[in-house]
Amino acid sequence: MSLPPVRLGVNIDHVATIRNARGGDHPDPARAAKLAVEAGADGVTFHLREDRRHIRDEDLNKIAGAVSVPLNLEMAAAEEMLAIALRHRPHAVCLVPERREERTTEGGLDAAGKHNEIAWFVNELKGAGIRVSLFIEPDERQIEAALSLGAPVVELHTGAYCEAFHAGDMERTRERLVAIAKAAQAGAAKGLEIHAGHGLTYDTVKPVAAIPQIRELNIGHFLIGEAIFLGLKPAVQTMRALIREAREEAAA
Ligand code: PXP
Repeated sequence: MSLPPVRLGVNIDHVATIRNARGGDHPDPARAAKLAVEAGADGVTFHLREDRRHIRDEDLNKIAGAVSVPLNLEMAAAEEMLAIALRHRPHAVCLVPERREERTTEGGLDAAGKHNEIAWFVNELKGAGIRVSLFIEPDERQIEAALSLGAPVVELHTGAYCEAFHAGDMERTRERLVAIAKAAQAGAAKGLEIHAGHGLTYDTVKPVAAIPQIRELNIGHFLIGEAIFLGLKPAVQTMRALIREAREEAAA
């Protein structure tokens, strides 16, 4: 059996976090994007948050000018963000929930509960030829909602799985992994393209990458952290190698 490869989108938000800690323009997220691609990233991902705590508006053109791989803009379903997406036309937009007080995207988008609110954004983005994905919890209700919204892609939130693993709770780790695998299977069976991400590390990536229906992983914080010790290129290369290894082992 052979499995289609899993693309790696490297999320460069936290290069901007470090830059913003001091003001100025170092380290430059566009330079990080270029290095990540040279190291084997298939795409570059960034989250323009409403509070601009990391990526800023002026980064968008710089990143687009630095690389030619597909760009994936994560954003809240908000009118300001929609206008920016329509102006910049990235390859993809991933709609995420956003609360100003959260440290990171803490849960998935409630595609089921907020159907009418989200539908307009999905349609506008699709109408502009942008591939839309919804960042959702791995549960069937959210998969059904994504289908009814007409989103072609879902990104399954791997945060709870990663947290359980790093807390040493192996039972919950398995349970959350099964939920991701089930949601991936259910979504793909109904025609959705399945992505996953959030909190993934070298220790947690392989079981997710081994899920046959997964086509893309978006990974950021851990890689930027590892880059401090290893350099960005080796950090990305190691992640790429683990993803490839997981696919090969799953196919064997
Ligand atoms: N996918 C989505 C939708 C996200 O919001 C994030 C965090 O910005 C990621 C993936 C990457 O998560 P992490 O930085 O924890 O790897």
